[in-house]
Amino acid sequence: MNSTVAKIEWLEEYNLFKSEIDDQHKKIFTLVNEIIDTERLYPKSEKFAIILSQLTDYGKEHFKIEEDIMIKCNFPGYEQHRKEHQDYILKVAMFNFNFNSANFTEPDIVLDFVSKWWYHHILYNDLHLAQFLHGSDLK
Ligand SMILES: [Fe+2]
Ligand SMILES: [Fe+2]
Repeated sequence: MNSTVAKIEWLEEYNLFKSEIDDQHKKIFTLVNEIIDTERLYPKSEKFAIILSQLTDYGKEHFKIEEDIMIKCNFPGYEQHRKEHQDYILKVAMFNFNFNSANFTEPDIVLDFVSKWWYHHILYNDLHLAQFLHGSDLK
């Protein structure tokens, strides 16, 4: 079965921070769309797993940058936001771990999770952080 997960479209209004964080979010959208394309072309392929792990590694770097900013500015939602990041890493690590096993998760389910997670996280959790930073020099 080819992917039925819809691509996520980057819109100008998703530029929340007016900084490198926005560029990273944009790149994450690109990677998510790339795995959607890959899954359409090569369902259940090794390539899918490779891009998924790239997305995880890039996500970790990105989370670290956001978490450092949150610590620097004493963001009150730090613990909860960090937990969201950790939950994502755990979940995706599990998808990667199970990829070659009998109880692998269907690529469409992985894709659905990844695309919805990033979309929601950026436009809800990261938006809260951006709103908090608004007016500060740390944007
Ligand atoms: Fe983010
Ligand atoms: Fe975040």
